Amino acid sequence: MTASTRRSILPPLTLEEQAHSQRLATHIRETLVAAGGSLSFERFMELALYAPGLGYYSAGSAKVGPGGDFVTAPEVSDLFSRCIARQCAAVLTRTGGEILELGAGTGRMAAAVLTELAAQHALPERYAILEVSADLAARQRERLAQLPPPLRDRVVWLQRLPERLRGVILANEVADALPCHRFRCEADGVRELGVVLDTVSAEPVTPSTPIRFGEHASAPSLGLERACDEIFAAVPQPLPPGYTSEVCTRIAPWIATVSECLAQGLLLLSDFGLPRRHYYHRQRVTGTLRCHYKGLAHEDHYINLGVQDISAWVDFTRVADAALAAGLQVQGFATQAAFLLGCGIEQLVAQASEEVERARLAGEARRLLMPEEMGEAFKLMALGRDLDVPLAGFALQDLRQLL
Ligand SMILES: C[S@@+](CC[C@H](N)C(=O)[O-])C[C@H]1O[C@@H](n2cnc3c(N)ncnc32)[C@H](O)[C@@H]1O
Repeated sequence: MTASTRRSILPPLTLEEQAHSQRLATHIRETLVAAGGSLSFERFMELALYAPGLGYYSAGSAKVGPGGDFVTAPEVSDLFSRCIARQCAAVLTRTGGEILELGAGTGRMAAAVLTELAAQHALPERYAILEVSADLAARQRERLAQLPPPLRDRVVWLQRLPERLRGVILANEVADALPCHRFRCEADGVRELGVVLDTVSAEPVTPSTPIRFGEHASAPSLGLERACDEIFAAVPQPLPPGYTSEVCTRIAPWIATVSECLAQGLLLLSDFGLPRRHYYHRQRVTGTLRCHYKGLAHEDHYINLGVQDISAWVDFTRVADAALAAGLQVQGFATQAAFLLGCGIEQLVAQASEEVERARLAGEARRLLMPEEMGEAFKLMALGRDLDVPLAGFALQDLRQLL
């Protein structure tokens, strides 16, 4: 499909969205000009998602859930969060302490986890949320205010990571939203793909002239070159000239910072992704970077700025390496299907007393479990510190040897 065909199937932006998008594009153009005419893709993605008051996650569109741009596992079904809660209960029984959720979206997972833990008499001392999006934090407050007082009184919002924490840290689909670099393999080496103004937008403009960005290839930064060397060492066959992909070098500092506060317990990551040698497969020639707008996925990250999501699959080998460097142990790595089955999702469906309810839950479970839906592409990784608790979610499958 050509870019213009892809664009033509996307719904048009509302006037309000167009104005918002133009404001963000103007801000990115000013940043780019001030930086000398180009930006790394990582910086561009950071501005597109997190520029204060303008970026996709910093401003007010619906984003996650029904009527939003994409749907995550906790939004598909509370069964996902109830399984997560069961895994948390096993850890909390040993460590005590709290749950910290990073990037809590609409707050639906927090509500379902707390409700399930209350049913199991395994409530954490508190349920802390660290959310970079003020808009999503407001949605979370609204939703969690509806919980019964003994649950809602345990929820707190943090502005930064706590100094020390015992218990569980949860991050569902957060790593895929970290800005990444883009690169292209050429016959004589790797090029970093940065962002420039296209020739028309480089001309003098009026405030309403559409701003278009384009691609610019240059020598890679040292960090990107190192990351590419790690990729080339991991893949079974050389990547062909023209092969374009992305790499998130922010994973390591992110894991290091998050793990620093974990005195004892589990960091449980769930996201779509692969071990490195599968991620950078020869046939995946355009990488995994995707945009989501009103439920449609496409690959044009230069349009709809500020009103569409941009994300990339997670290289779980990079996560595991970062965790080991931070003194954590990789205690499990499994597909979402194996994790949920290990946590007893079938039992949760069977427990529903009404037949209609059972049928509804069975449909939701299928969506979470089936390989062509979310069951295979999504993975869970358990990173532990000082934790010798059997983890039911990782009892059925162990993919760690693929990392
Ligand atoms: C794709 S959404 C997932 C939301 C939610 N976890 C879910 O599964 O529905 C990504 C979330 O991560 C948040 N986020 C991005 N970077 C973050 C960071 N460094 N720390 C905490 N949250 C972050 C975003 O604001 C957003 O809430």
